[in-house]
Amino acid sequence: MSIDCSKINNYYGKIAHLYDETRPLPPEVSENICNSILELVEATPETKFFEPGVGTGRIFLPIIKKGYSYTGLDISTTMMNQLRNKFQQMPENLTLIQGNAANLPFEANSFDVILTTHVLQCLEDPLIGLNEIQRVLKPNGIYLACEHLHCSYQEEFYQGFRKIITKYQKETRSDRNKIFPFGAEMAANLTKMGATTGIITVAKWQQSQTVAELFEMYRSRAFGLCWTISEADFNAAIQEFKIWCNANYQSENTVLCDQLNFNVVVARNWD
Ligand SMILES: C[S@@+](CC[C@H](N)C(=O)[O-])C[C@H]1O[C@@H](n2cnc3c(N)ncnc32)[C@H](O)[C@@H]1O
Repeated sequence: MSIDCSKINNYYGKIAHLYDETRPLPPEVSENICNSILELVEATPETKFFEPGVGTGRIFLPIIKKGYSYTGLDISTTMMNQLRNKFQQMPENLTLIQGNAANLPFEANSFDVILTTHVLQCLEDPLIGLNEIQRVLKPNGIYLACEHLHCSYQEEFYQGFRKIITKYQKETRSDRNKIFPFGAEMAANLTKMGATTGIITVAKWQQSQTVAELFEMYRSRAFGLCWTISEADFNAAIQEFKIWCNANYQSENTVLCDQLNFNVVVARNWD
């Protein structure tokens, strides 16, 4: 079974209004990430950025606000509308296009810098997405495969939820891509495809959330694990998850805290 783009579109359409609050990134952190990236790519006023899977513009909004030419593409117009709504007036330097990252509507050698965060895993074959990125990246362009991963307490919570919800899933997602395009694996793929690669951490910060806040995020059904589950099954799973939370944390007011890293696989000389 292939990944159905209309299903993905529909799914993100439903959760777009919850997306940023369920993937929190403090504005000052996103500012730091963007400043580091601008420095890393030695951006000039002529630098043209492109982000497939731009979503709500959650991470790279400061680059757009600084006036750089920025093209975002996403399968979901509802996600991109969240980005549009962050401006009173659509900025001239921002172009948003509805499209498929597996079949980019651009000529070869169009962009100086291409950024992705957590979109390639949505494709049936992430390698097709990478080939498309390589095609539209200018010679001497830079591709940045970014990762906003879980910290330890978020991962513990996620795994607790995953264990419960998968019992209710009738449709498994094991047919999805075999490569998980992050970190060292992503760097290895890009090296195999001819790029010079490195992995750097562009931001580190302390994140804290209460158990109640984390539980609410999962209760809002904002995560992909809940895509294929009926309302009744989801309600049963969330009741079970509530019991799991009570058993694992002292109180719903318990504050969990840990360091988060924003990592980037940098690919250069990818001609
Ligand atoms: C996990 S979200 C990441 C959004 C954003 N990059 C971020 O990190 O906040 C994945 C995004 O990719 C988009 N997407 C999924 N499949 C896509 C495809 N085939 N082509 C373009 N965008 C796609 C979704 O609509 C969604 O906005």
